[in-house]
Amino acid sequence: MGNTQPTPPSGELRATGTLDIKDSRTDKTYSVQILQGGPEGDTATRAMDLRQIKTSPDEFGMMTYDPAFMNTASCKSAITFIDGDKGILRYRGYPIEQLAEKSTFLEVAWLLRNGELPAQPEYDKWVHDITYHTYVHENIKTFLQGFRYDAHPMSMMCSAVAALSSFYPEAKNIHDPASRDISIIRLLAKMPTLAAFCYRHSKGLPFIYPDNDLSYTENFLSMVARMSEPKYEANPIFVKALEILFILHADHEQNCSTSAVRAIGSSQVDPFSAIAGGVAALYGPLHGGANEQVLRMIAEIGDPKNVPKFIDEVKGGKGSKLMGFGHRVYKSYDPRAKIVKKLADEVFKVVGVDKDLEIALKLEEAALNDEYFVSRKLYPNVDFYTGLIYRSMAFPTDFFTVLFAVARTSGWLAQWEEMLNDKEQKIARPRQIYVGYGERPFASKLTDRFPKAK
Ligand code: CMC
Repeated sequence: MGNTQPTPPSGELRATGTLDIKDSRTDKTYSVQILQGGPEGDTATRAMDLRQIKTSPDEFGMMTYDPAFMNTASCKSAITFIDGDKGILRYRGYPIEQLAEKSTFLEVAWLLRNGELPAQPEYDKWVHDITYHTYVHENIKTFLQGFRYDAHPMSMMCSAVAALSSFYPEAKNIHDPASRDISIIRLLAKMPTLAAFCYRHSKGLPFIYPDNDLSYTENFLSMVARMSEPKYEANPIFVKALEILFILHADHEQNCSTSAVRAIGSSQVDPFSAIAGGVAALYGPLHGGANEQVLRMIAEIGDPKNVPKFIDEVKGGKGSKLMGFGHRVYKSYDPRAKIVKKLADEVFKVVGVDKDLEIALKLEEAALNDEYFVSRKLYPNVDFYTGLIYRSMAFPTDFFTVLFAVARTSGWLAQWEEMLNDKEQKIARPRQIYVGYGERPFASKLTDRFPKAK
């Protein structure tokens, strides 16, 4: 009894039955295996098992057609578990609520990568190594100074992470565990520095170097906000809030950006380039960019009394979507959104209520009681309230997704390494179903193939 640990999962898929498929074209029946993951794991069949289904030997064979991967498992993973109907999120088996309350972001980053919580000496070394590598090459400063004053920080961030790849050419030795180790440490260490430098560039402020006496989040806040004071002292509620928000955003299984990182990484490129691809995917308004769009939407609504009209426009397809609502996987309240809403209350108690909170609360109430949203199972997602907290910490709206990227780097890296260690994985290369012309002879419509520019 007591502190007994459950047996570690095997990480393998088990055959739990067979599925018979009858092809009406040939009257032939095929048996394919049904595979299952862990105790709560979903079931699937191997798409390659369908290839045997054909009407003649020279036919290619049956594929599955799944635009936007609505029902396709692209990998097996032991990192993050989501039950979208019950609103459950766990990293390596640990409920997100417990991690947010009791853990630190760097402990969670270790957990995501290694599968178990770190022992004290492991944690001490991990924190030391990440702290030690926070500085970036001085040329990165020159690189960032090349951006216009109004460049979006996510564009800068994406380019800066890609540029880091050129500073660490040895990072391409992805099959060498030591090389992977240092690349992972460098990326986790330097993301806050890059993010803060992007912020300072936007503001026209001098870059602030990392202060290695500070914790991960305190140091980040110092690089963002420090002015002439010799030592930056962050507001403890901001440090706590950021730590929790980083934990909540650390991983979310096979979302758009993580799938992008895995797909890019599957070409065996270095992790800096793969993570730059993740940042690019996260930038989109349907993904990480949604937290920014929530505040823009609230600003547009302007007043709580305009909420019903806005909701009607969303429903009528006239306006935009209700940003910060809906999720591909969650069909109930996003568990992260619950924690964020509570956190927002705590932050607002200290810094005062955000002026747009009333609009947000009204929107939420209106949507949760409206047939349109209820029938489609559209609930607030993690992005709905995060923007309000970030703004109360004085972060500008276009910087919100950068904060998401800093945190998600831990998940991207864990997923990237899991992909590399998975013997079943190869270069990602989906199939298509061709629907274009059959062969036709080339007959140009041009009379001048090299016209001069007018
Ligand atoms: N507002 C209004 N209607 C919506 C919304 C919304 N936010 N989200 C989905 N719908 C409707 C959609 O129009 C469709 O209606 P119908 O069946 O009549 O055509 C139905 O709900 C199903 O939506 P879907 O587009 O098929 O769902 P999806 O799984 O493809 O999209 C989503 C998921 C998150 C992209 C979408 O809900 C959305 O665009 N939400 C707003 C953007 C947002 O908040 N994104 C952050 C996601 S959470 C953090 C992250 O992963 O980055």
